[in-house]
Order: sequence, then C-alpha cells, then structure tokens
Amino acid sequence: MQMSAHTFKNVLVVGASGDVGKVILPALIADSNFQVSVLSRAESSATFPSNVNVIKADYSNKDALVKALTGQDVVISTVGGEALLKNFDRTLIEAAVEAGVKWFIPSEYGFDLDHPDAASIPVNNPQLENIKLLKQHQPQLAHTFISAGAFLDWGLDTTFMNFDIANRKAILYDEGKNPVSGIALNNLGKAIVAILKHPQLTLNKRIYLVDATFTQKEMLALLEKHTATKWTVAHVTTEETFKKAEDDWAKGNIMDAFIGFLVGLTYDNRGVCEFEDKAHNAALGLGRVSLDQIVKEAVQRKQTTAQ
Ligand SMILES: NC(=O)c1ccc[n+]([C@@H]2O[C@H](COP(=O)([O-])OP(=O)(O)OC[C@H]3O[C@@H](n4cnc5c(N)ncnc54)[C@H](OP(=O)(O)O)[C@@H]3O)[C@@H](O)[C@H]2O)c1
Repeated sequence: MQMSAHTFKNVLVVGASGDVGKVILPALIADSNFQVSVLSRAESSATFPSNVNVIKADYSNKDALVKALTGQDVVISTVGGEALLKNFDRTLIEAAVEAGVKWFIPSEYGFDLDHPDAASIPVNNPQLENIKLLKQHQPQLAHTFISAGAFLDWGLDTTFMNFDIANRKAILYDEGKNPVSGIALNNLGKAIVAILKHPQLTLNKRIYLVDATFTQKEMLALLEKHTATKWTVAHVTTEETFKKAEDDWAKGNIMDAFIGFLVGLTYDNRGVCEFEDKAHNAALGLGRVSLDQIVKEAVQRKQTTAQ
C-alpha cells in the first residue's frame, strides 16, 4: 500500500458513544490531520459533538453499511455490549472490504489475543475469528490489533477489577500474585492517534499499550496508602472463577459468564493480560502514567462523587 500524509485522512469511529469511543473521538477530532465521522445505529439515542459528521445506519442492512463506509480510509470499531456477542465486527469487516476501506481496527483493546491461551475462554472466539478474517483480507484491507490490558481508571471507577474504593473491599485472585498489564483508558485516545500516525510501525501488527504492569497485591497496597485505611480482603482462585463462568455459560447466564471469564483470564498466571516486554509506548512516542498516579486519582474521584 502506498502511504502519504493523506492516505489515512478520513476516519470513521463506530460505537463512538461508548466507554472507549468517548475517549477516542475527542482525541481524533482535536487532530487536524483527520476528517472524523461516527457511525451509530439507526435506533441509538447517542449524541455526539456538533463538529463531527454523524452517519446513522440500519446495521441489519448490508448495503446501507457499505454505503456508510464508502470513502472512509480508516474504520475504528469500538462497539461493545451485545455487538461483541453477536460479532457485529464480522459484518463491519465484510462491509469495509466491499466499501474499499484501507485500514480496520477491530474492537479489542484488552488481552493479548495472539497468546496461545487466549482461546481458552469462549467469549474471545468472535474476536479470534475476526483476526483470521482480517488476515485473509490483508492484501485489500490492512489491520491493527490493539492490546491494552485492563483499563485501570475505568476498572477502579466501575469496580470491574474487584477493588471497591467506596467500601474499602477487594477480591484477590490466586492470592493476588500474578502480573497484569493495563492502561489508563484516558490515554487510549492519544494512543490511537499515534497508531494512525505511524502506519509503517503499526499496519498489520498487534500493538501493545501499557501504562503499568503490577500484581493485585501491589494495587491493594497503593489503594490502602491513598485511602489511609486497611481494606477487607476476600480470596478466590481463578480455577473456581472459571468453573462458575462455565456453569453460567451452560445455563445461559451470559453476562455473568462473560465477566467471570474476563476477570479469570486477567488475573490467572498464564499471562494473556501481561505484556510488559512487548509494549510499543516508547516506539509510538507515548509516555506512561504510573499506577500510583492512577490509583491516587481514582481515590480522589470517588471522594468527590461521595461529597
Ligand atoms: N480492557 C478493558 O479493561 C476493557 C474494558 C471495557 C471495554 N473494553 C473493550 O472495549 C471495546 C468497547 O467497549 P465499550 O465498553 O466502550 O462498549 P459499550 O460502551 O458497551 O458500547 C459501545 C457502543 O457500541 C454500540 N453498540 C451497542 N450495542 C450494539 C449492537 N448490538 N450492535 C452494534 N453496535 C452496538 C453503541 O453505539 P451507538 O449507540 O452509537 O450505536 C455503544 O455506545 C470492547 O471491545 C470491549 O471489550 C475493554
């Protein structure tokens, strides 16, 4: 693919109203190199900044999707929720190939899906299928896969990481001793811009973004320091977490299963969520924010919202 400064000007963000989209969109809009549009479901009530071109489409209509993607150089999917289970990205990739899009970034942003144990949880299957599909289409449509590990600020605010700042309670998996990599979600916007501006480095590659690599025990120590309290700690094993997730999956409790599988694979000892040695931050000119800072700010946010 011939690349010039204008090769990747028109950028479409899909699902831009979600947690990830909300941080990516302003970073792209702020950069005059890009002409940014968003694609949103016809039935969605999401709203967007007035300076962005909003395209609404009926996602069940393939022709409408192809039309929406035509003229776009880059499509960044940040779809979530049901879209992941239904694998809407597959439909989007097929439409992108038909529309002549040049570069596709699928909705991943977490695990190292090139790790051999990524396939050990069923909820990763759609994304693993999309990786194969994108590699098949590589001659027409380039891709970049992004592994950013656990979203640390988001994970603390939502208690998804099983650290509950408001109640000073934590759950440690396998004694909290396994290393985990993660990013402050706030930094993902800057990282996406850097990825689009370094195509020689990022096209047809998996890019690893890391702000901090830590154990749950280290995270707990920082939380106790910044809250100046001793926390209540419960212990579980990832083995029992996976067993429960499998039971939930078999019973059709899909959301519980989904969360159980993700948390288990984040905290177990196989390293699917640990990639400190592969981080591309420096190569992309991205600084890092320390875990201490991330924890400090999360505690401050919780204090502000509690007042
Ligand atoms: N590493 C981590 O810790 C971490 C944490 C959270 C998320 N993630 C990943 O980040 C990605 C985005 O997650 P998110 O939390 O930002 O997602 P989200 O907020 O749940 O949803 C993002 C957007 O997807 C669109 N959407 C919802 N249902 C859809 C459907 N059925 N079909 C098509 N589009 C639909 C919506 O946009 P419109 O209303 O505009 O259509 C929605 O605002 C996912 O791949 C997720 O796994 C990673």
